[in-house]
This record gives sequence, structure tokens and C-alpha cells, in this order.
Amino acid sequence: MRAVTWQGFEDVRVEGVPDPRIEEPTDALVEITSTAICGSDLHLYRPLTPFMEPGDILGHEPMGRVVAVGDAVEGLATGDRVVVPFNIACGSCFMCDRQLFAQCETTQVREHHKGAALFGYTKLYGHVPGAQADLLRVPQAHFGPIKVPEGPPDDRFLFLSDVLPTAWQAVAYADVPPGGSLAVIGLGPIGQMACRVARHQGVEQVLGVDLVPERLAMAERHGAEVVDAGSTDDVAEALRALTGGRGPDAVVDAVGLEAHGSPVAGAMQRAAAALPRAVSSRLAQAVGVDRLTALHTAIDAVRRGGTLSISGVYGGAADPMPMLDLFDKGVQIRMGQAHVRRWVPEILPLIERDDDVLGLADFTTHRLPLTEAPAAYAMFQAKQDGAIKVVLEP
Ligand SMILES: NC(=O)c1ccc[n+]([C@@H]2O[C@H](COP(=O)([O-])OP(=O)(O)OC[C@H]3O[C@@H](n4cnc5c(N)ncnc54)[C@H](O)[C@@H]3O)[C@@H](O)[C@H]2O)c1
Ligand SMILES: [Zn+2]
Ligand SMILES: [Zn+2]
Repeated sequence: MRAVTWQGFEDVRVEGVPDPRIEEPTDALVEITSTAICGSDLHLYRPLTPFMEPGDILGHEPMGRVVAVGDAVEGLATGDRVVVPFNIACGSCFMCDRQLFAQCETTQVREHHKGAALFGYTKLYGHVPGAQADLLRVPQAHFGPIKVPEGPPDDRFLFLSDVLPTAWQAVAYADVPPGGSLAVIGLGPIGQMACRVARHQGVEQVLGVDLVPERLAMAERHGAEVVDAGSTDDVAEALRALTGGRGPDAVVDAVGLEAHGSPVAGAMQRAAAALPRAVSSRLAQAVGVDRLTALHTAIDAVRRGGTLSISGVYGGAADPMPMLDLFDKGVQIRMGQAHVRRWVPEILPLIERDDDVLGLADFTTHRLPLTEAPAAYAMFQAKQDGAIKVVLEP
């Protein structure tokens, strides 16, 4: 089959690789019809290079059709149309019983002291072949895949794999009080949907921050007030000015470790990526740093006693944090990978309706053949050609 493989810093290629097959009775095989590129894939494209091996298959936002199921998989049959969550969970361990699916104890990667295994996300997360490919082997298929109805196009359901549950969790964790305000830093796919989910749930004031004009414009079309971080010296001050001087009740960080405007940390990430992988992987785990501009803006902006909800991925081991501000302001912080399955019962009925309350018809900006993955990654990374959400079609 064909698959998008990681080969090196900013180097992904479509290659022929062996077809996956059923290995465990709890596996299924899915023929992929749509598979998106995520901001998390961009971390692998550049700063998380130390944790990648050449040939790793990327991707964790897929949907398609079941073509084979293992003997122990009940409730799923050949021909079913399914979306596959990005985290792999068993559905019945201590963590899964508490709906903490991103921490599933059956798939936890204990060797690297990490949570549940993820598709296409480095050896730290189980080294599971990813979903930007013709076919995907889905472990724990008795629990993971979400059956979706026939009829509507893939774009209606595809984002159940990651973006929608991640945005839903971001807003749930933000815990905005009635009548309150929410700022969303970063208007990539996650930030866009966090704004829309918040508006849908009745948050009165949603403020979106980014520096890319098309992304600001999209958020504005869907009911957010926007702040252009590219033309404002002090984003936190701008957010306070829009919220009666106190700052938003809650702030979502939808940026993560590659925040714009962190020159020193950016140089360190590039230097680490240039070292031999065996050295850089050990180094990154011991003293790795994140680009923290967005997170520090969020901490500065959130009102005293407010909530910080972090969806952006961070991986540093030696990040300087403003503990005095956090403590003095009494900020509450919640974060982590999305527990995808936990939010599906709330989201699926919404997107099955035909009124498109989350505006999914205005989200995917590019749909390209899988073979164009190298150009698609470069475009999404550089935010060129109005790229906001890019979907590949095998
Ligand atoms: N927690 C989870 O389960 C989960 C799931 C999916 C994605 N993520 C993470 O969420 C983050 C966003 O993902 P995405 O797909 O939307 O990616 P993205 O890279 O398209 O979005 C990031 C956005 O942040 C903006 N940005 C960068 N620096 C900024 C700054 N200083 N101030 C304001 N905006 C800034 C960028 O212009 C971009 O629009 C990534 O870190 C990704 O890894 C987490
Ligand atoms: Zn993702
Ligand atoms: Zn489990």
C-alpha cells in the first residue's frame, strides 16, 4: 500500500510499504477514505524530530470502511463506515472506566512512561503505524472505531477523530461561568473549533487570537471577536481591554510548543533536531524546551481566579514557568490529550443533523490526493494558500 512516511527534518514522502494485517483478535483493518493533517503532525515534521525513525508512517485523523475484523471484535463488520479516534483505548480498564481514554492502562506506553498509545506518534506513544495510508490496522477495535451513517460526505464526520473532541474538551476544561468570556489563543483547526463549540454552548464573549489573516477571518465568520497578535504588542493587555480590564474568565491555549515569537527556544529546537537522533532524543527528554509565548500570554491574560485550558501539545522537560503569577492569581489549569470517546456521545448527534451548527462546511480548506502529502505538509506548516485544515484522500 501507499503511506506517508517521515524521513527527516521537514521531509515526508509517500512510499510503498507492506499492507498491514490482522495481528490480534481485537484488531480491525480499515480502508481509508479521508485522513487529515493535524497541527500535532507539524511537531513531528520539525521539533519532535529526535523521537522519529525514518520510515515511520504518520497520521491519526482517519475515517474509512472496515475491510476485516479480528475474531474478538463484536459490533463491527466488514463494510461499516467508521471514524477512528487518535488515541487507542481498550474501553474497560481502570482509566477507561473513568473515561480517561488518553490514559488507557491496556495501551499505556510504560517503557517511556507515557499515556495511551496513539496512531502515528513516535516511539514514545507506542510506535503504532499511522493513518495517512491506504489501509490502517486498528488495535482495540472492539472499542475504538465510531460507526457513522451513510450519506453525508466524509468532512461531516472526519473531525470526530481528533479536532472536534479536542475542541470540546478544551471548552469543557475551560469551565466558563454563565455570562462569562473565553479567549482562544491560536486559531488553527483546534482553536477554530474551540471558538465554535463555545459559541454553540452559549458562551457570550469568545475572543480569538492569531497572526494569520485567513484564520482570524474564519473565526470572525463564526462569531468570535478577534485580536491580531501580529499587530498588537501586548496581546494580554488587548484581551484585558476587551473584558472590562480583568481579563477573560478562561483562556484556551490552542498553540503548543511551536508558538511564534520564541526566538531562543526556537533556536534550541532547531539545534536539537540537527544532532544525531540517539543523542538528541536523550537530550530532549532531559532538558528539552518548548516555545512558550502563547502559554505565557494565556497566563498573563486570564483573570484572577480564572481557568487555563491547555490543548496545545507541550513536550519540554525544562520549561521556565511564571510560578509567581500562576500562584498569586490563583489560576486553575487543566490540560492533556483529548479523551476522544468521552465526548463523542455529545458531538455525534449534533453533526448528524443537517443544520451544520458547527459550520463544518466552512472548515476544510484543502482536499488533496495522498500522493501530494509532501507539498501538503509544507503548505500547512507555512500557512500558505489560506491552508487551515488539509485533508488527504488515498
Ligand atoms: N490535546 C490534544 O489532544 C490535541 C489534539 C490535536 C491537536 N493538539 C495540539 O493543538 C495545537 C493546535 O493544533 P492545530 O491543528 O490547530 O495546529 P496549527 O499549528 O494549525 O495551529 C496553531 C495556531 O497557533 C497560531 N500561533 C502560533 N503562535 C502564536 C502566538 N504566539 N499567538 C497566537 N497564535 C499563535 C498559529 O498561527 C496557528 O494558527 C497543536 O499544538 C497540536 O499539537 C492537541
Ligand atoms: Zn491530531
Ligand atoms: Zn483502557
